[in-house]
This record gives sequence, structure tokens and C-alpha cells, in this order.
Amino acid sequence: MSSFWSNFVIVISVLMMLACLWLLFANARGTPGESTDHVWDDDLREYNNPLPRWWLNLFVITVIFAAGYLALYPGLGNLSGKLGWTSTGEMNAKLAEYGARRHAAYASLTGKDIRALALDETALGLGRAVFLGNCAGCHGADAHGAIGFPNLTDTDWKFGGTPEAIVASITKGRDVMMPSMKAALTPEGLEALIEFVPFWSDKTLEPAKRDAGLKQFAITCAGCHGADGHGNQALGTPNLTDDIWLYGPGRERVRHAIEAGLHGQMPAHESLLNEDEIRVVAAYIYSLATPFGTP
Ligand code: HEC
Ligand code: HEC
Repeated sequence: MSSFWSNFVIVISVLMMLACLWLLFANARGTPGESTDHVWDDDLREYNNPLPRWWLNLFVITVIFAAGYLALYPGLGNLSGKLGWTSTGEMNAKLAEYGARRHAAYASLTGKDIRALALDETALGLGRAVFLGNCAGCHGADAHGAIGFPNLTDTDWKFGGTPEAIVASITKGRDVMMPSMKAALTPEGLEALIEFVPFWSDKTLEPAKRDAGLKQFAITCAGCHGADGHGNQALGTPNLTDDIWLYGPGRERVRHAIEAGLHGQMPAHESLLNEDEIRVVAAYIYSLATPFGTP
């Protein structure tokens, strides 16, 4: 605030408080029941009826309180008040206190294995906070994911579910691509795949469709997805034989994947999170996905 406006506010505020006091005392004068000599409509007389003392004093106390408050705390223009309190100062003190507590919490976890952190309540609490702040936007607050964003609570891992693989996914990110396979397929070949791949895990699929599909798969897809369709974690190719679909189940989704290709990107977090934060969030993910064992 410029000094002009600061002085303006100070003068107005002080005048207002003085005006309040004047108003209170001006109205307290006179004897109760006495006429004020004001007459309307010939015979309507106004009598003096001041507020009771105790009530008046309550008002006076509020004015004194306001004066005391403004002397101690900021409020009068740019004056900072005797106590020197500021909301920024209070926030910084709270942040420093929070930072110190966080630091102590992290310090108690250094050197611990991620498998051990996954059983540690403090680590999981910190990990969950990191997750909600950095990952939930894509993977969902409950980590169940969405189309294109993997579910991190199941045991189906595209890049691996060991603590090391999870840390690598978070630190360096993952960037995988399936090219459009349209040019490599005849219309019949495409249909054979669409009638088979979405139903790989379906035991009731007609053998003729399975054979035709497998034949085409061996030619165009097995190089990346493996002859048995189980995928390859080093390439980031998913298992197509379970019924878990990152890009959604059904013929049309698979047709779209084959025709248009896919490009999944998990951003690298090494410049966004420090090592401790990556370790606790990895432990949190590990605990969600494998509550009772090691993959
Ligand atoms: C901008 C969106 C986005 C954000 C933010 C994000 N992820 Fe991901 N994440 C993805 C996508 C997309 C994939 C899948 C990439 C693929 O398979 O093509 C993925 C994959 C992963 C995987 C590998 C899963 C597997 O099956 O192997 C892990 C683990 C993971 N994310 C953890 C995290 C954690 C922990 C955070 C927060 C620190 C995070 N992600 C933040 C989009 C995101
Ligand atoms: C060059 C390697 C490569 C080839 C060849 C390839 N894919 Fe893929 N495929 C991938 C990768 C990598 C992914 C994961 C993409 C991602 O996460 O963004 C993928 C994902 C998929 C998915 C999505 C699975 C899900 O969980 O939603 C389907 C379906 C699929 N491929 C089918 C096929 C079929 C059918 C063929 C043969 C026509 C094929 N792919 C050929 C690399 C390949």
C-alpha cells in the first residue's frame, strides 16, 4: 500500500473509533425520562432514554479492544503492530515446523530396504502423500488407473513389479510404442486377429478362430509380444493372454490398437522427486500391489 493510502486508512480508522466514542457519550448524557424538547406534529414529544450504563460500557470495551488490537497487530494502514505478527510469518513458521518433522520422518527411514518400507506405517504415510500429490492425477487416487493409465494395485506388471523395477519406472519414466500394424496386415489377417486376440483367455473360443489368429499373430505380432503372447517386460509389451487391458477390452479397442498403434508415456520423475520420495512412493505402490508377498 502506498503511504498516501496507508495514512488515509489510519486517519479514517482513528476518526471512526473517536466518532464511535463520541456517539456513545453524546447519547449517554441527560437524565432518563426528561424531555429533549423535541416536538413533532404539535404534541409528539421525545423523551431522553439513554442506554443502561452496563450496556454502554460493553460498547466502550469494544472500542478499547479495537484500539488494543490495532496497537498489537497489523491493521492500521501499513503499521505492523507491536507484536510484529504477519500471516506470511505464521505460515513460514508452520512450514519450517512441518519441514523439520518431515525431515525427521525421512531420516528414520534412510538405508531401509523398500520391501521393509512397504511394511512401515510412517513410510507408507509419506509414500501415499507423494502419490496423491504426483501420481493420482494419472493413476487415480486409489491407484486403480484408467484407460491408458495402468492399475498399480494388481500384480500385472508391464515393466516389472520388483521394488527395483518400480523405482526404475518412476525415476526414468517409461516410453513405449506399438507402431501401426495396418500396412503389415491383409484385411483377412486383421479380422483373424480381432476375432482372436481379445478372446485369448476365453477357453470357449472356436478352435478355428484360435488357429487362424495364432497363425497371424506368429507372423506379425510375436516378435514383440512373444510367441505365447505373454509379453516382454524389457520391451514393455503387455501380456495379451490375461484379461487385463490397459487400453480397454473388446474387438474395437484391439482393432484400434492394431490400426492406429499405441504410445504410452510414464513421465520420468527424477527431476520432480528426490531419492527419498521415490523410495517411499515405490514402497507405497509395492504395498498396494503385493500386500502379502513378493512378486
Ligand atoms: C502424466 C501421467 C502419469 C503420471 C503423473 C504418473 N504416471 Fe505412472 N504411468 C503412466 C502411464 C501412461 C504408464 C504406462 C506406460 C505404458 O505402459 O505405456 C505408467 C506406468 C507406471 C508404472 C509401471 C507399471 C507397470 O505395469 O509396470 C509405474 C510403477 C508407475 N507408472 C508409477 C507411477 C508413480 C509412482 C507416479 C508418481 C510418482 C506416476 N506413475 C506418475 C502415467 C503417469
Ligand atoms: C514393435 C513391437 C510391437 C509389435 C510388432 C506389436 N506390438 Fe502390440 N504392443 C507393443 C507395445 C510396446 C505395447 C504397449 C503400448 C503402450 O503401453 O502404449 C503394445 C500393446 C498392445 C495392445 C494393448 C494391450 C492392452 O493391454 O490394452 C494390444 C491389443 C496389442 N499390442 C496387440 C498387438 C497385435 C495384435 C499385434 C500384431 C498385429 C501387435 N500388438 C504388434 C508393441 C508391439
